[in-house]
Amino acid sequence: MSKSHLVAKSPSRVSILLLLGLLMATLTKTGAQIGVCYGTVANNLPPAQEVISLYNQYNIQRMRLYGPNHDALQALRGSNIEVVLGVENERLQDISSSQDSANDWVQNNVVNYNDVKFKYIAVGNEINATGPDAPFVGPAMERIQNAISTAGLANQIKVSTAVYPIILEKSYPPSTGSFRQNYRPFLDPIIGFLVGNQSPLLVNMYPYFSYIQSRDISLEYALFTSPSAPVNDGDLQYQNLFDAILDAVYSALEKAEGGSLKIVVSESGWPSDGGDRQVTTKENARIYNSNLIKHVKGGTPKKPGNPIETYVFSMFNENEKQGEATEKHFGLFFPNKEPVYPIDFN
Ligand SMILES: *[C@@H]1O[C@H](CO)[C@@H](O)[C@H](O)[C@H]1NC(C)=O
Repeated sequence: MSKSHLVAKSPSRVSILLLLGLLMATLTKTGAQIGVCYGTVANNLPPAQEVISLYNQYNIQRMRLYGPNHDALQALRGSNIEVVLGVENERLQDISSSQDSANDWVQNNVVNYNDVKFKYIAVGNEINATGPDAPFVGPAMERIQNAISTAGLANQIKVSTAVYPIILEKSYPPSTGSFRQNYRPFLDPIIGFLVGNQSPLLVNMYPYFSYIQSRDISLEYALFTSPSAPVNDGDLQYQNLFDAILDAVYSALEKAEGGSLKIVVSESGWPSDGGDRQVTTKENARIYNSNLIKHVKGGTPKKPGNPIETYVFSMFNENEKQGEATEKHFGLFFPNKEPVYPIDFN
């Protein structure tokens, strides 16, 4: 074998190894679509450093934070956990009207944590599309995007907002999905922004709430355990409510010039207590979340084979959550870090 041949060979071996490495990185990524929301509306949660350890212990590789919680951000330094960071609803008005405010927010909460792996900035959570804060969302997204671009982070971090499916006028069957007309002044600029920046739309999605609001839906269909597909929609069959809601939002986006958008499910979950005793059980919560984790590795009937990036709500039971009693019982873990029910992220 000639020397030149050997020389030629070694770089190609390096590139094969590189390729393999890249391939494995891609495989790991697609296998790990699941994150967990780190909600902190409680007075008894463990210190942030212990929470990060718990994420690592359970191999939870993504986290949603609702606002710039500096203890959490500090604890995340140097970790591989990918983070969705929220801009607090209370800051939207100020940020929407001032580029300096947006720049400060990004400097203090993103740029200063350059060893944290931010993936998305969620500008506002579940803003009422016809409420007083609605007009601030689009402009606040633009200003945060400007700040992110100025900081040279536009390729790493996408800017979006988290909505909920109440924005749908129609959702059944999924192909008829459309947005409420009176929500379009809120949604259209957001959709335009997301399309322009190739950012995903974040959607908080709870088959649980649809189920308790409409007893036409079977519990099995809501829990991913239906043995058959009770919903036929043209050529597509729906075996679970999660897919049906998600595809209804995709259909609505198509009708609003958002057909190119990807949806990230920024919240989903099932309460383990606090409601109807037949429904809000640990067993049902375990079934829902276990099936959710498995299910999102594939796609929906409308988008088969496209893994659905999904964030389970929530890491802990949060004892200071307001509203229905169930709100306090969405956690995968008790504040003492014991699991509420067995759950496997691998
Ligand atoms: C949204 O805001 C409008 C106007 O203030 C109000 O009538 C409506 O009840 C609100 N909807 C929700 C879901 O809070």
